[in-house]
Amino acid sequence: MNALGPDATVGILGGGQLGRMLALAAARLGFKCHVLCPDPRSPAFDVVRRVTEADYADIAALDRFVADVDVVTYEFENVPAETAMFLSARKPVLPDPKVLAITQDRLVEKEFVNGLGIATAKFAPVDSADGLTAALAAIGQPAVLKTRRFGYDGKGQMILRDGADPAAFEHLGGQPQILEAFVPFEREISVVAARGSDGAIECFDVTENEHQDHILKTSHVPAAVTPAVAVQARRIAETIAEAFGYVGVLAVEMFVVRDGGGHAVLVNEIAPRVHNSGHWTIDGASVSQFEQHIRAVAGLPLAKPIRRGRIEMINLLGAEVEDYRGWLTKPDTAVHLYGKTGIRPGRKMGHVTRVFPEP
Ligand SMILES: Nc1ncnc2c1ncn2[C@@H]1O[C@H](COP(=O)(O)OP(=O)(O)O)[C@@H](O)[C@H]1O
Ligand SMILES: [Mg+2]
Repeated sequence: MNALGPDATVGILGGGQLGRMLALAAARLGFKCHVLCPDPRSPAFDVVRRVTEADYADIAALDRFVADVDVVTYEFENVPAETAMFLSARKPVLPDPKVLAITQDRLVEKEFVNGLGIATAKFAPVDSADGLTAALAAIGQPAVLKTRRFGYDGKGQMILRDGADPAAFEHLGGQPQILEAFVPFEREISVVAARGSDGAIECFDVTENEHQDHILKTSHVPAAVTPAVAVQARRIAETIAEAFGYVGVLAVEMFVVRDGGGHAVLVNEIAPRVHNSGHWTIDGASVSQFEQHIRAVAGLPLAKPIRRGRIEMINLLGAEVEDYRGWLTKPDTAVHLYGKTGIRPGRKMGHVTRVFPEP
């Protein structure tokens, strides 16, 4: 692919805060953005030149959208396969939609990861209440039952402890599910990696993530892991990016577990997009995950990221955003508000990044 010229338009599917931060990074590189999203109150709509407020299956709208852009990318992984196919017949869609087919389904994703020789929690498919009983016998307890598709922020999953009720299958809607062994992790980490159209890969430093009610609350960088774990985590992200022939930014969420005298790293899930655990890169690194993604899909060279210090990124969830004035007065703190109207518990309203000098 040829690099986009200075006046090119990047099409973004999805208008949440990730789309908004992608568009801001694109603007810095001189690109225009056109965002397609069904929600009229999309945070990304506020910062771009053109918007299409339409459903992802609205062919007439997709047709107008794709005619206006030079490349299409996305900020979320649940873009319908037919939408991606329609668009990719007309303009480059990056990363390649075949990645979506794998990452939209937790079972297919885990099989793909294991196929690369990378470990995950033990898992089994569950297609019925009887199937759940069989899977529980095979996997043991505690275990985590998840819908194969459309889960996020812990939605569509439940922990099953001793004496688990096979009715859990119905509680999750009776749709295809996966049962995973509960991982007694020491910590959760992620690697945000960018792969350019030339095949070059740049990883950001390994990030440690703390969740609150299954929603990311805080990220710390560098993660408190051994050098061996950090090397292994990066290698896992690179192997996955390479296997996909990926162009853009992806994030790999991982569990670190004690293993004999050392540690093992298990992949939890892959996000084929910029990721909340990479927000710190806007203020805490020489190049952000958003700029790396735009560089990659625009056919431009990636930058080598240099971290600026010890980092703490805190999500402002729900009513926590009301404290933003307090954050504004703190030194070394960057405040990001997503412009969302309507506070709901757990809703990602903004984040702050604190950068401290490293000893
Ligand atoms: N098998 C597991 N063992 C232990 N904790 C888990 C497991 N699966 C998920 N979790 C916890 O729930 C969080 C959300 O689950 P995840 O599979 O990442 O789904 P989501 O798409 O909602 O992010 C994880 O970050 C982790 O804290
Ligand atoms: Mg997750």
